[in-house]
Amino acid sequence: MVAEAVRAFGAATTTEELRVAKGEHAGENSPIALANRGIGKMAPQERKVAGAEIGAARAAINAALATRVAELEAVELQARLKDEAVDMTLPVVLQPQGALHPITALFHEMSDVFVAMGWEIEEGPEAEAEWLNFDSLNFTPDHPARFLSDTLFLDPPEDHKLMRTQTSPVQMRSLLTRGVPLYIVSPGKVYRADEYDATHLPVFHQLEGLAVDKGLGMADLKGTLDHLAQAMFGAGVNTRLRPHYFPFTEPSAEMDLECFVCHGESVGNPERPCRTCKSEGWIEWGGCGVVNPRVLAAAGIDTDIYSGFAFGMGVDRTVMFRNDASDLRDFAEGDIRFARQLVGGAR
Ligand code: DAH
Repeated sequence: MVAEAVRAFGAATTTEELRVAKGEHAGENSPIALANRGIGKMAPQERKVAGAEIGAARAAINAALATRVAELEAVELQARLKDEAVDMTLPVVLQPQGALHPITALFHEMSDVFVAMGWEIEEGPEAEAEWLNFDSLNFTPDHPARFLSDTLFLDPPEDHKLMRTQTSPVQMRSLLTRGVPLYIVSPGKVYRADEYDATHLPVFHQLEGLAVDKGLGMADLKGTLDHLAQAMFGAGVNTRLRPHYFPFTEPSAEMDLECFVCHGESVGNPERPCRTCKSEGWIEWGGCGVVNPRVLAAAGIDTDIYSGFAFGMGVDRTVMFRNDASDLRDFAEGDIRFARQLVGGAR
Protein backbone atom coordinates (compact mmCIF):
# COMPACT_ATOMS: atom_id res chain seq x y z
CA MET A 1 0.00 0.00 0.00
CA VAL A 2 2.83 2.39 0.85
CA ALA A 3 4.57 1.69 -2.46
CA GLU A 4 1.31 2.19 -4.39
CA ALA A 5 0.60 5.47 -2.60
CA VAL A 6 4.13 6.83 -3.07
CA ARG A 7 3.98 5.98 -6.77
CA ALA A 8 0.57 7.66 -7.21
CA PHE A 9 1.66 10.79 -5.32
CA GLY A 10 4.84 10.95 -7.41
CA ALA A 11 2.82 10.62 -10.62
CA ALA A 12 0.59 13.57 -9.73
CA THR A 13 1.88 16.71 -11.51
CA THR A 14 -0.58 19.26 -10.13
CA THR A 15 -2.08 19.86 -6.70
CA GLU A 16 -5.44 18.96 -8.21
CA GLU A 17 -4.17 15.53 -9.38
CA LEU A 18 -2.57 15.09 -5.97
CA ARG A 19 -5.90 15.79 -4.26
CA VAL A 20 -7.44 12.89 -6.25
CA ALA A 21 -4.52 10.58 -5.42
CA LYS A 22 -4.82 11.55 -1.78
CA GLY A 23 -8.47 10.45 -1.76
CA GLU A 24 -7.55 7.11 -3.30
CA HIS A 25 -4.54 6.29 -1.11
CA ALA A 26 -5.09 8.14 2.19
CA GLY A 27 -8.83 8.91 2.16
CA GLU A 28 -11.60 7.34 4.24
CA ASN A 29 -12.11 4.44 1.83
CA SER A 30 -8.48 3.94 0.86
CA PRO A 31 -6.95 0.45 1.39
CA ILE A 32 -4.94 1.68 4.35
CA ALA A 33 -8.03 3.15 6.04
CA LEU A 34 -9.93 -0.10 5.48
CA ALA A 35 -6.99 -2.07 6.89
CA ASN A 36 -6.96 0.18 9.92
CA ARG A 37 -10.63 -0.41 10.51
CA GLY A 38 -10.05 -4.21 10.17
CA ILE A 39 -7.79 -4.23 13.22
CA GLY A 40 -10.82 -4.29 15.52
CA LYS A 41 -11.97 -7.61 14.09
CA MET A 42 -8.64 -9.39 14.68
CA ALA A 43 -7.79 -11.75 17.44
CA PRO A 44 -6.31 -9.86 20.39
CA GLN A 45 -2.83 -11.32 20.01
CA GLU A 46 -2.66 -10.35 16.32
CA ARG A 47 -3.88 -6.79 16.91
CA LYS A 48 -0.69 -5.49 18.42
CA VAL A 49 1.55 -6.52 15.52
CA ALA A 50 -0.94 -5.50 12.83
CA GLY A 51 -1.66 -2.20 14.62
CA ALA A 52 2.03 -1.29 14.68
CA GLU A 53 2.54 -2.24 11.02
CA ILE A 54 -0.53 -0.41 9.77
CA GLY A 55 0.30 2.65 11.90
CA ALA A 56 3.81 2.79 10.43
CA ALA A 57 2.39 2.41 6.90
CA ARG A 58 -0.13 5.27 7.46
CA ALA A 59 2.63 7.48 8.78
CA ALA A 60 4.78 6.71 5.71
CA ILE A 61 1.86 7.48 3.35
CA ASN A 62 1.05 10.77 5.12
CA ALA A 63 4.71 11.80 5.10
CA ALA A 64 4.99 11.05 1.35
CA LEU A 65 1.81 13.05 0.77
CA ALA A 66 3.07 16.06 2.75
CA THR A 67 6.37 16.05 0.85
CA ARG A 68 4.62 15.93 -2.53
CA VAL A 69 2.14 18.67 -1.51
CA ALA A 70 5.06 20.93 -0.60
CA GLU A 71 6.85 20.18 -3.89
CA LEU A 72 3.83 20.83 -6.10
CA GLU A 73 2.80 23.98 -4.25
CA ALA A 74 6.28 25.39 -4.71
CA VAL A 75 6.21 24.61 -8.45
CA GLU A 76 2.80 26.19 -8.85
CA LEU A 77 3.79 29.30 -6.88
CA GLN A 78 6.82 29.79 -9.12
CA ALA A 79 4.64 29.47 -12.23
CA ARG A 80 2.15 31.99 -10.86
CA LEU A 81 4.86 34.50 -9.95
CA LYS A 82 6.27 34.19 -13.44
CA ASP A 83 2.86 34.67 -15.05
CA GLU A 84 1.97 37.72 -12.99
CA ALA A 85 5.36 39.40 -13.20
CA VAL A 86 5.29 43.09 -14.22
CA ASP A 87 8.12 44.37 -16.37
CA MET A 88 9.17 47.50 -14.53
CA THR A 89 11.42 48.53 -17.40
CA LEU A 90 8.58 49.00 -19.90
CA PRO A 91 7.93 52.68 -20.73
CA VAL A 92 4.66 53.97 -19.25
CA VAL A 93 2.33 56.71 -20.45
CA LEU A 94 2.54 59.45 -17.81
CA GLN A 95 -0.72 61.28 -17.16
CA PRO A 96 0.40 64.90 -16.91
CA GLN A 97 -0.94 66.84 -13.92
CA GLY A 98 -2.85 70.01 -14.65
CA ALA A 99 -2.02 73.50 -13.45
CA LEU A 100 -4.13 76.58 -12.83
CA HIS A 101 -4.02 79.10 -15.64
CA PRO A 102 -1.91 82.10 -14.52
CA ILE A 103 -4.97 84.36 -14.96
CA THR A 104 -7.10 82.12 -12.76
CA ALA A 105 -4.36 81.99 -10.14
CA LEU A 106 -4.08 85.78 -10.12
CA PHE A 107 -7.87 86.20 -9.93
CA HIS A 108 -7.83 84.00 -6.83
CA GLU A 109 -4.99 85.97 -5.29
CA MET A 110 -6.58 89.38 -5.94
CA SER A 111 -10.05 88.24 -4.88
CA ASP A 112 -8.60 86.90 -1.62
CA VAL A 113 -7.29 90.36 -0.73
CA PHE A 114 -10.82 91.77 -1.02
CA VAL A 115 -12.61 88.85 0.61
CA ALA A 116 -10.29 89.34 3.59
CA MET A 117 -11.69 92.90 3.87
CA GLY A 118 -15.28 91.65 3.77
CA TRP A 119 -15.96 92.36 0.11
CA GLU A 120 -17.94 89.88 -1.94
CA ILE A 121 -17.29 88.29 -5.34
CA GLU A 122 -19.87 88.99 -8.03
CA GLU A 123 -20.03 87.63 -11.56
CA GLY A 124 -21.94 88.68 -14.65
CA PRO A 125 -22.60 87.17 -18.08
CA GLU A 126 -20.15 87.65 -20.94
CA ALA A 127 -22.99 88.10 -23.45
CA GLU A 128 -24.47 91.26 -22.00
CA ALA A 129 -27.23 93.78 -22.61
CA GLU A 130 -26.00 96.90 -24.39
CA TRP A 131 -27.85 99.00 -21.81
CA LEU A 132 -25.85 97.48 -18.92
CA ASN A 133 -22.52 97.63 -20.73
CA PHE A 134 -22.97 101.22 -22.00
CA ASP A 135 -26.15 103.28 -21.42
CA SER A 136 -26.56 102.64 -17.70
CA LEU A 137 -22.91 103.54 -17.23
CA ASN A 138 -23.49 106.96 -18.78
CA PHE A 139 -21.97 106.24 -22.18
CA THR A 140 -23.75 108.55 -24.65
CA PRO A 141 -25.26 106.94 -27.77
CA ASP A 142 -22.42 108.29 -29.92
CA HIS A 143 -19.55 107.28 -27.59
CA PRO A 144 -16.67 105.94 -29.73
CA ALA A 145 -16.33 102.79 -27.63
CA ARG A 146 -19.68 101.59 -28.93
CA PHE A 147 -18.58 101.57 -32.55
CA LEU A 148 -18.47 98.23 -34.29
CA SER A 149 -14.71 98.34 -34.65
CA ASP A 150 -14.35 97.92 -30.87
CA THR A 151 -17.49 96.18 -29.78
CA LEU A 152 -18.61 92.71 -30.82
CA PHE A 153 -22.38 93.01 -31.18
CA LEU A 154 -24.53 89.90 -31.26
CA ASP A 155 -27.20 89.05 -33.81
CA PRO A 156 -29.98 89.96 -34.16
CA PRO A 157 -29.20 93.68 -33.75
CA GLU A 158 -32.67 94.48 -32.42
CA ASP A 159 -31.85 92.43 -29.28
CA HIS A 160 -29.16 95.00 -28.37
CA LYS A 161 -26.83 92.37 -26.98
CA LEU A 162 -23.04 92.36 -27.17
CA MET A 163 -19.98 90.61 -25.79
CA ARG A 164 -19.20 92.82 -22.81
CA THR A 165 -16.28 95.15 -23.49
CA GLN A 166 -15.55 95.67 -19.79
CA THR A 167 -16.47 94.12 -16.44
CA SER A 168 -18.14 97.42 -15.46
CA PRO A 169 -21.70 96.19 -16.32
CA VAL A 170 -21.38 94.02 -13.22
CA GLN A 171 -21.41 97.32 -11.27
CA MET A 172 -24.93 98.06 -12.48
CA ARG A 173 -26.07 94.45 -12.08
CA SER A 174 -24.98 94.30 -8.45
CA LEU A 175 -26.39 97.76 -7.65
CA LEU A 176 -29.74 96.53 -8.99
CA THR A 177 -29.72 93.07 -7.37
CA ARG A 178 -27.84 93.63 -4.11
CA GLY A 179 -28.55 97.27 -3.34
CA VAL A 180 -26.44 99.37 -0.98
CA PRO A 181 -24.21 99.36 0.99
CA LEU A 182 -22.21 97.35 -1.50
CA TYR A 183 -18.63 96.09 -1.62
CA ILE A 184 -17.92 93.77 -4.57
CA VAL A 185 -15.13 92.70 -6.87
CA SER A 186 -15.83 90.97 -10.14
CA PRO A 187 -13.16 89.05 -12.04
CA GLY A 188 -13.95 88.07 -15.60
CA LYS A 189 -13.45 87.92 -19.35
CA VAL A 190 -14.06 90.90 -21.65
CA TYR A 191 -14.19 91.09 -25.45
CA ARG A 192 -13.11 93.63 -28.01
CA ALA A 193 -12.59 93.42 -31.76
CA ASP A 194 -8.80 93.62 -31.38
CA GLU A 195 -5.98 92.03 -33.31
CA TYR A 196 -4.48 88.82 -31.97
CA ASP A 197 -0.81 89.65 -31.43
CA ALA A 198 1.86 89.81 -28.73
CA THR A 199 0.22 92.77 -26.96
CA HIS A 200 -3.49 92.38 -27.87
CA LEU A 201 -6.05 89.65 -27.41
CA PRO A 202 -9.69 89.88 -28.52
CA VAL A 203 -10.54 88.23 -25.18
CA PHE A 204 -8.82 89.49 -22.06
CA HIS A 205 -9.46 89.81 -18.35
CA GLN A 206 -10.34 92.53 -15.89
CA LEU A 207 -10.93 92.76 -12.18
CA GLU A 208 -13.71 95.24 -11.43
CA GLY A 209 -14.28 96.71 -7.99
CA LEU A 210 -17.18 98.74 -6.65
CA ALA A 211 -17.85 100.11 -3.18
CA VAL A 212 -20.97 102.17 -2.40
CA ASP A 213 -21.73 103.32 1.11
CA LYS A 214 -22.35 106.49 3.11
CA GLY A 215 -19.51 108.96 2.75
CA LEU A 216 -17.14 107.07 0.45
CA GLY A 217 -14.79 109.10 -1.73
CA MET A 218 -11.44 109.41 -3.46
CA ALA A 219 -9.42 108.87 -0.27
CA ASP A 220 -11.10 105.50 0.29
CA LEU A 221 -10.33 104.56 -3.31
CA LYS A 222 -6.67 105.47 -2.91
CA GLY A 223 -6.39 103.59 0.40
CA THR A 224 -8.01 100.49 -1.10
CA LEU A 225 -5.72 100.48 -4.13
CA ASP A 226 -2.62 100.97 -1.97
CA HIS A 227 -3.70 98.07 0.20
CA LEU A 228 -4.17 95.85 -2.86
CA ALA A 229 -0.79 96.90 -4.25
CA GLN A 230 0.97 96.13 -0.97
CA ALA A 231 -0.83 92.83 -0.44
CA MET A 232 0.23 91.70 -3.89
CA PHE A 233 3.62 93.30 -4.41
CA GLY A 234 5.00 93.87 -0.93
CA ALA A 235 4.93 96.49 1.80
CA GLY A 236 5.73 100.01 0.67
CA VAL A 237 4.50 99.69 -2.93
CA ASN A 238 2.01 102.46 -3.65
CA THR A 239 -0.32 103.59 -6.40
CA ARG A 240 -0.54 106.89 -8.22
CA LEU A 241 -3.64 108.48 -9.76
CA ARG A 242 -3.51 110.51 -12.98
CA PRO A 243 -6.54 112.53 -14.14
CA HIS A 244 -8.50 110.79 -16.85
CA TYR A 245 -12.04 110.46 -18.20
CA PHE A 246 -14.56 107.63 -17.83
CA PRO A 247 -18.29 108.27 -18.33
CA PHE A 248 -19.23 106.33 -15.19
CA THR A 249 -16.83 107.99 -12.75
CA GLU A 250 -16.38 111.64 -11.81
CA PRO A 251 -13.65 112.51 -11.09
CA SER A 252 -11.89 109.72 -12.98
CA ALA A 253 -8.28 108.65 -12.90
CA GLU A 254 -5.87 106.21 -14.40
CA MET A 255 -4.00 104.35 -11.71
CA ASP A 256 -0.36 103.45 -11.89
CA LEU A 257 1.41 100.94 -9.70
CA GLU A 258 4.74 101.94 -8.24
CA CYS A 259 7.37 99.59 -9.69
CA PHE A 260 7.71 96.74 -7.21
CA VAL A 261 11.14 95.82 -8.57
CA CYS A 262 13.11 99.11 -8.63
CA HIS A 263 10.75 101.32 -6.55
CA GLY A 264 11.54 104.13 -8.97
CA GLU A 265 15.31 103.92 -8.53
CA SER A 266 15.83 103.19 -12.24
CA VAL A 267 14.32 106.53 -13.28
CA GLY A 268 17.04 108.69 -14.87
CA ASN A 269 19.63 106.13 -13.82
CA PRO A 270 21.07 104.41 -16.93
CA GLU A 271 23.41 102.38 -14.69
CA ARG A 272 20.44 100.53 -13.22
CA PRO A 273 17.81 100.00 -15.93
CA CYS A 274 14.59 98.23 -14.88
CA ARG A 275 12.92 95.80 -17.26
CA THR A 276 9.66 95.66 -15.32
CA CYS A 277 8.74 99.37 -15.52
CA LYS A 278 11.02 100.16 -18.48
CA SER A 279 12.80 102.55 -16.12
CA GLU A 280 9.66 104.68 -15.75
CA GLY A 281 9.15 103.91 -12.05
CA TRP A 282 5.41 103.36 -12.56
CA ILE A 283 3.33 100.75 -14.37
CA GLU A 284 -0.12 101.47 -15.83
CA TRP A 285 -2.62 99.30 -14.00
CA GLY A 286 -6.16 100.38 -14.82
CA GLY A 287 -8.92 102.96 -14.47
CA CYS A 288 -10.80 104.20 -11.44
CA GLY A 289 -12.74 107.02 -9.92
CA VAL A 290 -15.61 108.21 -7.77
CA VAL A 291 -18.85 106.66 -9.06
CA ASN A 292 -20.74 109.16 -11.18
CA PRO A 293 -24.00 109.98 -9.35
CA ARG A 294 -25.83 109.39 -12.65
CA VAL A 295 -24.89 105.70 -12.41
CA LEU A 296 -26.23 105.42 -8.87
CA ALA A 297 -29.36 107.31 -9.88
CA ALA A 298 -29.91 104.90 -12.80
CA ALA A 299 -30.01 102.13 -10.19
CA GLY A 300 -32.50 104.10 -8.08
CA ILE A 301 -30.04 104.91 -5.30
CA ASP A 302 -30.35 108.13 -3.31
CA THR A 303 -27.22 110.07 -4.20
CA ASP A 304 -27.70 112.50 -1.32
CA ILE A 305 -26.94 109.65 1.05
CA TYR A 306 -24.75 107.23 -0.89
CA SER A 307 -21.55 107.63 -2.85
CA GLY A 308 -18.89 105.22 -3.97
CA PHE A 309 -15.71 104.47 -5.82
CA ALA A 310 -14.87 101.99 -8.54
CA PHE A 311 -11.85 100.60 -10.32
CA GLY A 312 -11.04 98.15 -13.08
CA MET A 313 -7.67 96.70 -13.89
CA GLY A 314 -6.22 94.59 -16.64
CA VAL A 315 -5.32 91.21 -15.25
CA ASP A 316 -3.45 89.89 -18.32
CA ARG A 317 -1.20 92.95 -18.10
CA THR A 318 -0.64 92.26 -14.42
CA VAL A 319 0.56 88.71 -15.13
CA MET A 320 2.79 90.11 -17.88
CA PHE A 321 4.70 92.60 -15.79
CA ARG A 322 4.63 90.51 -12.65
CA ASN A 323 5.95 87.34 -14.27
CA ASP A 324 7.93 88.86 -17.07
CA ALA A 325 5.70 87.24 -19.70
CA SER A 326 6.28 89.04 -22.96
CA ASP A 327 3.77 87.54 -25.41
CA LEU A 328 0.03 87.63 -24.65
CA ARG A 329 -0.57 84.80 -27.13
CA ASP A 330 0.98 82.41 -24.59
CA PHE A 331 -2.07 83.13 -22.42
CA ALA A 332 -4.45 81.80 -25.05
CA GLU A 333 -2.58 78.86 -26.49
CA GLY A 334 -3.08 76.48 -23.59
CA ASP A 335 0.42 75.04 -23.30
CA ILE A 336 0.58 73.53 -19.81
CA ARG A 337 4.31 74.31 -19.61
CA PHE A 338 3.51 78.03 -19.69
CA ALA A 339 1.09 77.72 -16.78
CA ARG A 340 3.51 75.51 -14.81
CA GLN A 341 6.35 77.95 -15.31
CA LEU A 342 4.30 80.85 -13.97
CA VAL A 343 2.25 79.30 -11.18
CA GLY A 344 3.74 75.85 -10.70
CA GLY A 345 1.88 72.58 -11.20
CA ALA A 346 -1.27 72.10 -9.11
CA ARG A 347 0.08 68.96 -7.49
N1 DAH B 1 -14.08 99.73 -17.64
C1 DAH B 1 -12.87 100.51 -17.86
C2 DAH B 1 -12.13 99.94 -19.07
O1 DAH B 1 -12.44 98.88 -19.50
C3 DAH B 1 -11.97 100.44 -16.66
C4 DAH B 1 -12.54 101.18 -15.49
C5 DAH B 1 -12.31 102.52 -15.34
C6 DAH B 1 -13.32 100.51 -14.56
C7 DAH B 1 -12.81 103.21 -14.28
C8 DAH B 1 -13.83 101.19 -13.46
C9 DAH B 1 -13.56 102.55 -13.34
O2 DAH B 1 -14.56 100.61 -12.54
O3 DAH B 1 -14.07 103.21 -12.27
O4 DAH B 1 -11.27 100.60 -19.58
